[in-house]
Amino acid sequence: MRKQIVAGNWKMNNDLAQTEALIAALKKQTKTTDAEVMVAPTATNLWQAYNSLKGVNIEVIAQNMHFAESGAYTGEVSAAMLKSIGIETVILGHSERREYFNETDELLAKKVDAALAKGMRVIFCFGEELADRKAGNEETVVGLQIKNALFHLGAADFQNIVLAYEPVWAIGTGETASPEQAQDMHAFIRKTLADKYGSDVADEVSILYGGSVKPANAEEIFSKPDVDGGLIGGAALNADDFFAIVNAF
Ligand code: G3P
Repeated sequence: MRKQIVAGNWKMNNDLAQTEALIAALKKQTKTTDAEVMVAPTATNLWQAYNSLKGVNIEVIAQNMHFAESGAYTGEVSAAMLKSIGIETVILGHSERREYFNETDELLAKKVDAALAKGMRVIFCFGEELADRKAGNEETVVGLQIKNALFHLGAADFQNIVLAYEPVWAIGTGETASPEQAQDMHAFIRKTLADKYGSDVADEVSILYGGSVKPANAEEIFSKPDVDGGLIGGAALNADDFFAIVNAF
């Protein structure tokens, strides 16, 4: 049975005090589902968050990492550095990093390899632009993003890969993909995986949806057979809203 996961991507939000306040509010929440819960603070707050959530069933994860072991990469952090502070999972390929930091499929393949080499779990993000969808090219775009960054991997590697479909036009816009749109794309993604690695592998990979998931729409989106949870942005910054989504399965 593949895992149900709800991960909160805090993006560049919350200083140390705000991180502590949000974590205190998260600790007061009650989880009523079997979903795995994760939160991704900014790098400056990872250690504090990790220690504050020790013993709490919420995993602290990173929003990014570099592919190198170490070296002259000012401002970057490595997989080893994340592991040294207890971080075992990292988000890679988010559309905001592809857009603002020119992260290509080829660069992301190197980041994925570096994370897996350290035994980390990867939440790999991808998704089409509005123009792609209007042109009917969404499956072509998404298929290439997955193949270019992941299809060099072996089948066993996918035990540490979570996929996150995030249509760029739905991120931060309130224009959530319909549950049917999400299901159609997730089914395409799972078939793309199955065609390469077989259905035994594809059926075990969790595929999350991200893009304006809110308490009001989470239950219907999560009810779809190939949707295994969500990668949550804005709603993750409010503990009540975030756990309303966690409990929406
Ligand atoms: O990584 C999740 C994020 O891109 C979704 O953001 O604010 O649309 O939930 P939001």
